[in-house]
Amino acid sequence: MTDQYTRATAAADYIRTLTPLTPRLGIILGSGLGNFAAQVEDPTTIPYADIPHFPQSTVEGHSGKLILGHIAGVPVAVMQGRVHAYEGYSLAEVTFPTRVLGLLGCKSLIVTNAAGAINTSYKQGSLVAISDHINLTGSNAALGPNEAKFGPRFFDMTNAYSLALRTLAHAEAAKQNIPLAEGVYLAVLGPSYETPAEIRAFRILGADLVGMSTVHEVIVARHMGLEVLGLSLVTNMAAGVLNEAINHEEVMETGRRVEHQFTSLLKALIPQIA
Ligand code: 6GU
Repeated sequence: MTDQYTRATAAADYIRTLTPLTPRLGIILGSGLGNFAAQVEDPTTIPYADIPHFPQSTVEGHSGKLILGHIAGVPVAVMQGRVHAYEGYSLAEVTFPTRVLGLLGCKSLIVTNAAGAINTSYKQGSLVAISDHINLTGSNAALGPNEAKFGPRFFDMTNAYSLALRTLAHAEAAKQNIPLAEGVYLAVLGPSYETPAEIRAFRILGADLVGMSTVHEVIVARHMGLEVLGLSLVTNMAAGVLNEAINHEEVMETGRRVEHQFTSLLKALIPQIA
C-alpha cells in the first residue's frame, strides 16, 4: 500500500483532469445537509467511486459526490456525504477526502454535521457554531509516521475552530435573524447512540453537542494549516434529555426542516470566509 500523501496526490491529480478550478474553500456536508450542494454554480460533479482511493459511504442519506464550482464567486469543493469510522473505515480513510481538499488548494474548511444536544438550552433544529471539541473516539487521524509535506509531527489545536470565522458566522446569523448558538462538540465512535449515563458524564466534561464525525477531519485540516469553521445542526436531544428514544429518520427530517436557514447562512458566509 502506498502512503497517504501519494494516494491523496493521485486523487487530486485525477480531479484536476476533470476541472481546471482551484478550490479555496472546502465544505463537508453532514447528514441531512447534502442539498446545499445544489448551490454550486457550473458544477463539476464527481462520484466518489470515480476518484482513486476515495472511500464510499454505506449509510443512507450520505450520497457520495465531490462537487467543484463557484458559490458567490468563490471557487469551492463541496463534499456531499462523508464516511465515518463506525462504518469500519480507518481514520486514514475517513480523513482522506480532507487531505485531498488540502492538496487541491483549499485554505479553509467548513465542516458540518448532525449532532445530538447535551446542552438543554438547545432545541431540535438549533444551529450551533462549534467552539472546540473533545475527541473521545479513542484514536487520532494523525497517528502513524508523520508526512511532513502535510504538516508537522506535533501541531497546535488551540484555535482549531477559528475564532475569526466563528465571529463572522455570528455576525451574519444576527444580520439574517437566524439563531446561532455556540458550543463544544464531543465525538464518540458510534454507531450506537449514547446511554443517558454517558450523556450526563459528557455534560460534566463540558460538552454541549455529541456526534460521530468532524473531529478527525478537523485534526487533519489543522495538521495542514487550514482554517476551520464547524457548524452543527441539532437533530435531536441526546439520550436522557427528553423521555424518548432517538431515531435516524428524525435526524434526517430535522435537516430538511432547517435547510433553508442553513443554506442562507452558509451562502452569505462563503465570500466573507474566502
Ligand atoms: Cl444523540 N449521538 C451521537 N453520537 N450522534 C448523533 C446524535 C446523538 N444525534 C445525532 N447524531
